Amino acid sequence: MRERKSGEREEPLHHIIEAQQFSRTLLEQELFPLTQQMAELAVKGGDERLADRHLFNLFYEPSTRTRISFEMAMKLLGGDVSGTENARAFSSVVKGETLEDTIRILNGYNFDVIVLRYDTEGGATRASVVSGIPVINAGDGEGQHPTQAVLDVYTIWGHFGKIDGLSVAMVGDLTYGRTVHSLAYLLGKFENMRLFFVSPQLLRIKEGVKEYLNRHNVWYQEINSIEEVAQELDVVYMTRAQTERMDQAARFDHKQGAYTLTREITRALPEDSIIMHPLPRNEELPDEVMNDPRVIVFRQAQNGLYIRMALLDMLLNP
Ligand code: NCD
Repeated sequence: MRERKSGEREEPLHHIIEAQQFSRTLLEQELFPLTQQMAELAVKGGDERLADRHLFNLFYEPSTRTRISFEMAMKLLGGDVSGTENARAFSSVVKGETLEDTIRILNGYNFDVIVLRYDTEGGATRASVVSGIPVINAGDGEGQHPTQAVLDVYTIWGHFGKIDGLSVAMVGDLTYGRTVHSLAYLLGKFENMRLFFVSPQLLRIKEGVKEYLNRHNVWYQEINSIEEVAQELDVVYMTRAQTERMDQAARFDHKQGAYTLTREITRALPEDSIIMHPLPRNEELPDEVMNDPRVIVFRQAQNGLYIRMALLDMLLNP
């Protein structure tokens, strides 16, 4: 078990299923410093610390960043990667195999870690119940996407040098967008946060997230447009409408509101604010604002590589 600077000891992570598993201490004293080392290591071309270790990318939904960055992270640490991009079409899932059986099989084939993206909430938990090797949740339907939230918080911390006291607006589809669920849980670990949930009525942040924030005395407000708070924001976190998960009414409601970051809105944002997005972006983050230096989405995505290197090292070299 690793000892942290504070002398405090925590159980090492085994599976990564939800953002709530990450303590502040783990993030600030272990994971973020390790991520900074990984960024330097990546520039040097990596090393062999995970030689002979095998990662399986098991994806039931499309992905670019998450799958490819996990793949490159493992390779940069000397490990080996295999997987399936579309498990529903290209594996025995077509023949009715359950998620649990697929996970049991991978456990028997000498893999060391499974990165799972599943199309319904709870998939990662189900997988972890039957898996001896670590399962990393790479998105479970409308549930969570914890490694995205960790890289998001790392990016915010990298910019401001702190998280405490920041005002963060999460904008768009807050019901089905799993990245904002994980991000809200993670930001809720810090002090004096001001969280603004900006969405149409039909796409409000989930009750479970609000209950968690209430329980931890985290200040938040649900509002209808970014303009209401633009001047006081440190971070604007835009998200796309998850149309693949929404019904007609919610889609219509989303279209009616102002969930696009226009140039006009960016003019109201403070100079030292940052604009983030987990990507892929649609019309909510239009080309007309992409040259704004406050838009840091590509640095954010690149941090995903370093965070995933750090997470793999932490899980596989505890
Ligand atoms: C997100 C996801 O899959 O939840 N993508 C990502 O991993 N960066 C966001 C999205 O699909 O909108």
